[in-house]
Amino acid sequence: MQGEFAEFNRIFGMWLLSLEAEEHGRVRKLMNKGFKLALQNLRPRIQKVTDLLIDRVQDTGQFDLMRDFALPFPMLVMAEMLGVDSENQADFIAWSEDILIIADAPQVSLDLARQAQNSLIALNEYFRTLIAERRQNPGDDLISFLIRAEEENHVLTTDEVIAQSSQLIAAGYASIRNFIGNGIYLWLKHPDQLEMLRNDPSLMPNALRELLRYESSAQFATRFATEDFTLHDRLIKKGQTVIALIGSANRDPEKFPNPDVLDITRNADSHLAFGYGAHACLGATLTYIQAEIAFDIIIKRMPNLRLVNDTPEWNPGLLFRGFNSLPLTF
Ligand code: HEM
Repeated sequence: MQGEFAEFNRIFGMWLLSLEAEEHGRVRKLMNKGFKLALQNLRPRIQKVTDLLIDRVQDTGQFDLMRDFALPFPMLVMAEMLGVDSENQADFIAWSEDILIIADAPQVSLDLARQAQNSLIALNEYFRTLIAERRQNPGDDLISFLIRAEEENHVLTTDEVIAQSSQLIAAGYASIRNFIGNGIYLWLKHPDQLEMLRNDPSLMPNALRELLRYESSAQFATRFATEDFTLHDRLIKKGQTVIALIGSANRDPEKFPNPDVLDITRNADSHLAFGYGAHACLGATLTYIQAEIAFDIIIKRMPNLRLVNDTPEWNPGLLFRGFNSLPLTF
C-alpha cells in the first residue's frame, strides 16, 4: 500500500503544511512573495468568474448555492491565478476534483485512491509543462511569480513549484466553498445584519472576519508535541497529538463577549479561523478578496434571496463545517 501510493506521499510530504522549521520557513517566504504579486491583478478575474457563474443561473430564479456556485468558484479562481490556459481548464478541474476526494473525505476506497493518484500525476505533468513554458515566456500568473520568487539566494525548484500548486488547490478549495455557503446562510438568517451592511458597505471587511469567527470553515488544526508540556493543568507528552479546536476558540466568551451573537460591528480581528503561528493560512488575503467579491455580487444580482429550507443539513465531517447543498430562490 505504502509503495503503491509513493507518489502521493512524496508530494504531500512537500506541501507547506507538512514541512517543518527552517525548510518550512524557506519555502513559505518564497510562497508569500509569489502570492503577494499574484494577488495584485486578481480582482477583475475573480469578478469575471463570479459573474460567469451567476449568469448561468440568473434567469432561473432558483439554484443550489453549493452545486452551482460555491463548488466551481474556488476551482475557477485557482485556475485563473495559476494561469491555466482556457483549453486546459476542463482537464485541470477534473484532475483537481479527483485529488480533492482524498483531501476532503474521511474515508475513500482503494479504487478512488488510485484514481486520485493518477490524476495527481497527470496534474503534475501538466504543471511541469506549464512551468517550462513560463520560464520561456513569463506572465502575470502565480506560476510565473513562484518561478521568479527569490529570497536570500533561495529559489523554488520545479518540483517544489509543482507540489505547492497542488497544495494550493487542496487548501483553497473546501475552506472557500464552505465560507461562501456559511456566509450566505448567515446573511439570510440574520437579515438585520445584511441590512446594516447594505446601508454601510464599508462594514464588509469587519463582517467577513465576524462570519469567519462565527462559523469557522476549518474547525481544527492538528499538532504533535515535540516535548512534554502542561496546558491548563493537563500534561501533554512528547509525541502526543494535540487537536486545537478553532471553532471553539472562536466562541470563547473571554475573548468575544456574547460569542453566540453574530454582530458584524464587533471587533473580531483576533479570530482564529486561519490558524495561528508559522503555519497560519497563506491564503487569508485571497480569501477576503474572493468572499468580498462573491458576497457583493450575489447580494446585488439576486434580490429577494431566500433559503428554500430554513434548517438545511450541516455536513457531518469533523474538519470542514458547511453544507453539501443549499437551495435558494431569488
Ligand atoms: C475560508 C477560507 C480558509 C480558511 C478558513 C483556511 C484555514 C486555514 C487554517 C486553519 C490553516 C492552518 C492549518 C494548521 O495550522 O494546521 C491554513 C493553512 C493554509 N492555507 Fe488556508 N484557509 C482558507 C483559505 C485558503 C486559501 C484560499 C488558500 C490558497 C489558495 C489557502 C492555503 C493555505 C496554505 C498553503 C496553508 C498552509 C500554510 C503553511 O503550512 O505554512 N487557504 N488555512
